Amino acid sequence: AHQWRGVIAEYADRLPAHVQQRVVTLGEGGTPLVPAPALSALTGADVHVKVEGMNPTASFKDRGMTTAISAAAARGAKAVVCASTGNTSASAAAYATRAGMVCAVLVPDGKIAMGKLSQAIAHGARLLQVDGNFDDCLIAARKLAEAYPVELVNSVNPDRIEGQKTAAFEVVDALGDAPDIHCLPVGNAGNITAYWKGYREYAGLDAGAGLPAVATRTPAVWGFQAAGAAPIVLGYPVDDPETIATAIRIGNPASWQQAEEARDVSGGVIESVTDEQILAAHRVLSAEVGVFVEPASAAGVAGLLARAERGLVPAGARIVVTVTGHGLKDPQWALRTADGSEVQPVRVTADVVSIADALGLA
Ligand code: F0G
Repeated sequence: AHQWRGVIAEYADRLPAHVQQRVVTLGEGGTPLVPAPALSALTGADVHVKVEGMNPTASFKDRGMTTAISAAAARGAKAVVCASTGNTSASAAAYATRAGMVCAVLVPDGKIAMGKLSQAIAHGARLLQVDGNFDDCLIAARKLAEAYPVELVNSVNPDRIEGQKTAAFEVVDALGDAPDIHCLPVGNAGNITAYWKGYREYAGLDAGAGLPAVATRTPAVWGFQAAGAAPIVLGYPVDDPETIATAIRIGNPASWQQAEEARDVSGGVIESVTDEQILAAHRVLSAEVGVFVEPASAAGVAGLLARAERGLVPAGARIVVTVTGHGLKDPQWALRTADGSEVQPVRVTADVVSIADALGLA
């Protein structure tokens, strides 16, 4: 049986040589592309979800971290730094420890999901809670990397984008061609940049020009920001971004321009979704599709459903939605009902009659 070897080995011919000299991998990538009949029924399209929570540290960040840390290792780096809303720090910490490097992470004080914080600490990161938001953390991380011998592993590092573009390759490999539409959440805008790069290269464009084209076309890219953190939608940076989807609580995305380019050249859109829409999509994913995600990861589904309601989803279109991180990262949202009250477990005595009674079987 074939054992998936991680994105660098699997896509060696499509990645730069400098990430392949000292490969640091945890077997990332090769994630499921799951048909979502419930979403197809709601939209009139043919919807699949790319379940990126199935990566080793449970988010898509691992695809770019294997390439960033491998490149840093090849250059002899001893330490890396990142700013993070949580997932990047968990991934950087895991890959750095694997490479024998020190990992410093800067996170916004009090706005990190418990699962992510636990991961960074468990993997031995030097975790600093910064008195500021993600955007403040990224400015500080960039300055630190300029002034001290530490490499920056945020998605402004081009090696990150190289690894993350492999998700688009996997979609095309699974479907036989690019979908009509690709939906995903947008925070710092690294992932939308990476998907667009991957789709273009697989269609024989840009860096893929010398290689056999695998796809005949590129999809329209539909990106979604949280309404309280939607700078690209508004057209200006947001000083105090606010959303329950803490992963995308970002007011001034580093790859803003690349995100606009992906939107415009692909014929796509970047729109915002409210926290209520995000939580409703989260419930559809959990209760109807069978995929448990963290809130930010539901933003792509929320946006797709909102556009379907407005009649903007072409009938029968083949659509892929990336769900970016696992639900166990930030599980508290599942314990709230649609009206906002706490879910209370039903208590029973340990006898079959009460249990059958509670289940309505009696
Ligand atoms: N979804 C999740 C679960 C994320 O963690 C992130 C980003 C995004 C979506 C947005 O991706 O930034 O490439 O547009 N998280 C970063 C972090 C910012 O620090 O973990 P993006």
